[in-house]
Amino acid sequence: MSDIPVLTIDGPSGSGKGTIAQLVAKKLGWHYLDSGAIYRVLAQAAIKHDVDLADEQKLAEIADNLELVFLLGNGVLTVMLEGDDVSTLIRSEQAGNAASKVAALPLVRAALLERQRNFRQLPGLVTDGRDMGTVVFPDAEHKVFLTASAEIRAERRYKQLKEKGIESNLPGLIAEISERDVRDSQRKVAPLRPADNALQLDSSAMGIEDVYKHIMEKCSDV
Ligand code: C5P
Repeated sequence: MSDIPVLTIDGPSGSGKGTIAQLVAKKLGWHYLDSGAIYRVLAQAAIKHDVDLADEQKLAEIADNLELVFLLGNGVLTVMLEGDDVSTLIRSEQAGNAASKVAALPLVRAALLERQRNFRQLPGLVTDGRDMGTVVFPDAEHKVFLTASAEIRAERRYKQLKEKGIESNLPGLIAEISERDVRDSQRKVAPLRPADNALQLDSSAMGIEDVYKHIMEKCSDV
């Protein structure tokens, strides 16, 4: 148990949790953990070092020694792998899919647990992922589960990728997002699911501002 407060925001890909989590962290002046980026970087490291994405033992070793640095400045998260900026590289849908493959492996998740918990620093932590409220920070005082339909999430992702200059197509995105949803929610370890005491929000018909207000109201004692 820790006295350092944590607000967890879990949900499927494209639900808006990353944007919301960063907004809330900035507002509160708390640290921010993008746990998905860790799995994305791990998959990238495996590809870089020619390690099969199903080789659990080797992936767990890479996870143990992962040279990963997050730099958050001016609302932009820069992600460094072994000294290289991989911020753009890890955001493609292929990178997301590779991340979800390595994330399904129990030894990999175990190897990354402490690394994630170490982000819990004063004055507090806002974290986004799939298992933040259920496994990594089960004692968090505030938990949110944010979702939206696969079509809406694919549309949002399409716009996001376009803004970043990454080419994609909508039907392909819907298929990839749905495939990732199935893998993330049906895996044996730490499947995507709301924590029992999570505030559940469907953001399909809500703008980012509405979701933000809702979370800040519910967590008004934060
Ligand atoms: O959130 P993001 O889309 O960046 O996550 C990429 C993948 O990493 C997810 O599809 C999921 O498989 C995995 N992940 C996870 N647990 C987390 C965060 C992400 O398994 N806490």
